[in-house]
Amino acid sequence: MSEAQTVQWFPGHMTRTRRQMEKSLKLVDAVAEVADARIPVSSRNPELDRILQNKPRILLLNKCDMADPAQTARWLAWYRSQGWAALAVDCKTGKGLGGFQAAVRELLKDKIAAWEAKGMRGRVIRVMVCGVPNVGKSSLINRLARGSRAAVEDRPGVTRGNQWFSIGKGMELLDTPGVLWPKFEDPEVGERLAFTGAVKDEVVDTEHLAGRLLEFLRDQYPDALCARYRLERPELEGQPGYVLLELVGRRRGMLVSGGEIHTERAAAAVLDDFRAAKIGKITLEQVG
Ligand code: G4P
Repeated sequence: MSEAQTVQWFPGHMTRTRRQMEKSLKLVDAVAEVADARIPVSSRNPELDRILQNKPRILLLNKCDMADPAQTARWLAWYRSQGWAALAVDCKTGKGLGGFQAAVRELLKDKIAAWEAKGMRGRVIRVMVCGVPNVGKSSLINRLARGSRAAVEDRPGVTRGNQWFSIGKGMELLDTPGVLWPKFEDPEVGERLAFTGAVKDEVVDTEHLAGRLLEFLRDQYPDALCARYRLERPELEGQPGYVLLELVGRRRGMLVSGGEIHTERAAAAVLDDFRAAKIGKITLEQVG
């Protein structure tokens, strides 16, 4: 993305949400950070490390139904090798969430043992969800809180307005997630967020964006690209994004009067297809 296409995040809003997040953090024992498994780096804001300080955290690589399973396995192994608690999940169907509570208990096992030593057996564990927009925080809360009977009403010491969903196994979830802004300094981060639709298309040049995505697919997922648009591998080789976009448009019969290719329509089709995982299960960032 060029300078002009960079999304503006308003400092006032940032400070307010961060302050709210810091307040909420005091009420919870652990944080579930949600990231997009297709962009495990770009969908996370490293600022969260500073905000959380020593709060135990579990990383959820969400939307794993749309990500490359081999890459997701690599990312999980990598995070775990760094000492992280991490799970791959799909909050649309709930896949992978069965292990959530057990993973949080494991994460907090020393704390739980300390509580028990002090006679606090069965103390409720409270968790808060955090992440940048569009990674699936609300979907996660809805999934986990499904079947939660009555939300526990305001309690002493709990900020007015906060609600807690009981999610079973002695655990409660704060209804309001902590929203972080994405970190936009690296233009490639902005681009990958835009590929996934986390950045509104009104603020980006969709033809340029689709061309860049096609170049990535040409290099990393050429078979999936060929299969989706009935292209042949030799047609792709060494071709820049705009040529690839024209190939897609031509194959799709997207023409304007005079026989020219309607590249804007082709771009919208490519981006829609990618976001609906119709090109395949694709991960945009690799470990290492
Ligand atoms: P947020 O609170 O972090 O901003 O994210 P939210 O839950 O609103 O999810 C953003 C979009 O991602 C939603 O799609 C949601 O359905 C989708 N989503 C969340 N988790 C998953 C997942 O694991 N897999 C897939 N495939 N999609 C997921 P939307 O198009 O904005 O809404 P809708 O069409 O689902 O209503």
